[in-house]
Amino acid sequence: MELKQVIARRRSIRRFYPTEVPQEDILQILESARLCQSACNRQPWRLMVLTGDMKRKVAETMIQWVEDHPGVANDSAISARIIRQAPVLIMVLREKDDFWKHFDDLSIGAAIEHMCLTAVDLGLGALWIGHTAYAEADILKVVGRADMELPSVVAIGYPAEEPPMRPRLSLEEILIEPKV
Ligand SMILES: Cc1cc2nc3c(=O)[nH]c(=O)nc-3n(C[C@H](O)[C@H](O)[C@H](O)COP(=O)(O)O)c2cc1C
Repeated sequence: MELKQVIARRRSIRRFYPTEVPQEDILQILESARLCQSACNRQPWRLMVLTGDMKRKVAETMIQWVEDHPGVANDSAISARIIRQAPVLIMVLREKDDFWKHFDDLSIGAAIEHMCLTAVDLGLGALWIGHTAYAEADILKVVGRADMELPSVVAIGYPAEEPPMRPRLSLEEILIEPKV
C-alpha cells in the first residue's frame, strides 16, 4: 500500500477477530519499530510480545486496578477488555532514565506509530493504549520487569470493525503564525 493510503486508512481498532496473527507479520511490525529514528539514536524502546495467558494477566491486572480505585480511570477497564480480546499485545518498555525521559518519550511515540502503520499495511489493525499507565507498576511486576517503565502497549489483530475517521482539525486550525 502507498504510505499516503496507509496513513489515511489507519484507525484505532477496538474490536478484533480471534484469528491468530502470522509470526512473520509480528516480526515485520517489530522490525518497523527497530528502524525508527530516535533522539541521539538512543533507540530507547524495548519490545515484548504477549499472547495467551500472559496477555490475559495484563488485562486482568488493569481491571483489578480499576476495581481497587473506584471512579478513577474507568476507561482503562475498557482498554483492558480490548487487550483481552486482541490476539497479540506488544508491550513497549524502556529503561528508567529521568535525564532522557523527554527525548525518549518522543522517540518511543514515533516507533509506536511505525508499528501502527505497518499493521495497516499488513491488513491488520492496531490500538495504541496508554491506559496501562494507571496499573503500570502492577503490570510490570506481572511480566517480571519491575525495573523498567511501560510507556504504552499496542494491541494487534485482524480488525472486526471499520470505524469512520474521527474528527480532525483543519489545516487552518493547526497552522499558526509567530506572535511577534
Ligand atoms: C498516546 C496515545 C494513547 C492512547 N491510548 C489509548 C487507550 O488507552 N485506549 C484507547 O482506546 N485508545 C487510545 N488511543 C487512541 C486514541 O483514542 C485515538 O488515536 C484517537 O481517538 C483518534 O482516533 P484514530 O486513532 O482512530 O484516528 C491512544 C492514542 C495515543 C496516540
